[in-house]
Amino acid sequence: MVTGGAGYIGAHVVQALRRDGHDVAVIDDLSTGSRDRLTNDTPLFPCSVLDTELVTDSLRAHGSELVVHVAAKKAVEQSIAEPLMYYRENVIGMHSVLTAMVQAGTRKMLFSSSAAVYGTSTGDLVDEQADTAPASPYGWTKLMCEQMIRDTAVAAGLDWMALRYFNVAGAADPGLADRGENNLIPKVFRAICSGVPPQIFGDSYPTRDGTCIRDYIHVADVADAHAAAVRGMSGGAPSAIYNIGTGSGTSVLEVMHTARRITGRDFDWDVRPPRAGDSPAVVADAAKIRAGLGWESRYDLDDIIGSAWQSWSSRIEIPLAR
Ligand code: WQD
Repeated sequence: MVTGGAGYIGAHVVQALRRDGHDVAVIDDLSTGSRDRLTNDTPLFPCSVLDTELVTDSLRAHGSELVVHVAAKKAVEQSIAEPLMYYRENVIGMHSVLTAMVQAGTRKMLFSSSAAVYGTSTGDLVDEQADTAPASPYGWTKLMCEQMIRDTAVAAGLDWMALRYFNVAGAADPGLADRGENNLIPKVFRAICSGVPPQIFGDSYPTRDGTCIRDYIHVADVADAHAAAVRGMSGGAPSAIYNIGTGSGTSVLEVMHTARRITGRDFDWDVRPPRAGDSPAVVADAAKIRAGLGWESRYDLDDIIGSAWQSWSSRIEIPLAR
C-alpha cells in the first residue's frame, strides 16, 4: 500500500513497484495528487491518512503486507508559516498510519524521509551518521516520524526502512511530472513558460560560484531505490536509514546554465536576497545504500532537467526568442 501514491513522487514509486511485480494499491486524499497519475487497474482508496479507521479498512481490504508511507506536506517555507498544519499532516498522519498498521496486522513500513532532517551542513558529504538538526518544522516532522517508527517497531515488532531523499526532480514520463510550485527546477520552468526571469536566492554563499549547492536526484532513481528497499525488506534485510542522493552537488547557477542549454531558451535570472534557513551545501554520501541494497543513482542533471522540461515545453504561454 503506497500512501500518497497519486502524487508526484508516490506515482513514480507505484510504477516502479508494479514493474517489480508487486500488487500495489494506493491511499491518497487527492489534495495534491491525481488519479490520472495511476493506471486504471491500480486500486485507489481515496481517503486521508488521518482517517485511521478508513486506513485500517483499506489495509485489510487489500491484504497489505507493507506500507510505503509517502503522503506528507513537504514545502519548507510553508512549514515555517503553518507549523501546526505540518505537525498534523506529517506527525499525526504517521501516528494514524502506524496505528492502522498495528490494527490491520501490516508489519513492514518503508518511510519517505528527507535530507531536511540534517539541517545546515558543513559542506562535506552528509552520511546517515551526521548530526540531525532540522532547520524547519518540515525537517522536524520527518525526524519525529523516524523516531515514531523506531519505537513502534520495538513495541509491535515492525520491520522498517527510512529513505532520506535529497533534492528530487525530473520525471519518468511527462504525465508524472512535478506540478508543484515549491522546488527550484519546476519554478525555473514555470518562470520560463510565463516569460519572467527565475530567481536565485543569494549568490554570496561560501561555494564555488556563490550560489547554494544541492544533490539533485532523478525521481526515477528515487523510485528504483524504493523498489530495492522493498526487495531488501522482503528478503529479511535489517531495518535501516538510507540517504537517497547521487553523491555529487550542483549549484543553482549551474542549474540555470543547464536549463538554458537544454531548453534552448536564452533566459536571464534575478538574484534575490538569500532565503532564511538555506544551507550553503547539502550533498549526500550515498555509500551505505549501495553497500546495503545494491542501489545507486543512474541519471545525471541533464537527464533530470531534460525529462522535467518535456512536461513543461508543451505549456509555453509566451514563446521566448530562441
Ligand atoms: C533548492 C535550492 C534554494 C527556488 C528541498 C525540500 C524538500 C526536501 C529537501 C525532500 C536552494 C534555491 C530555490 C528558487 C532558488 N526534499 N532556490 N530559487 O530547500 O534544498 O529542499 O529538498 O524532502 O523537498 O525542502 O529545495 O528546491 O526549495 O531549493 O535559488 O526560486 O535552490 O535557495 O538553495 P531545498 P528547493
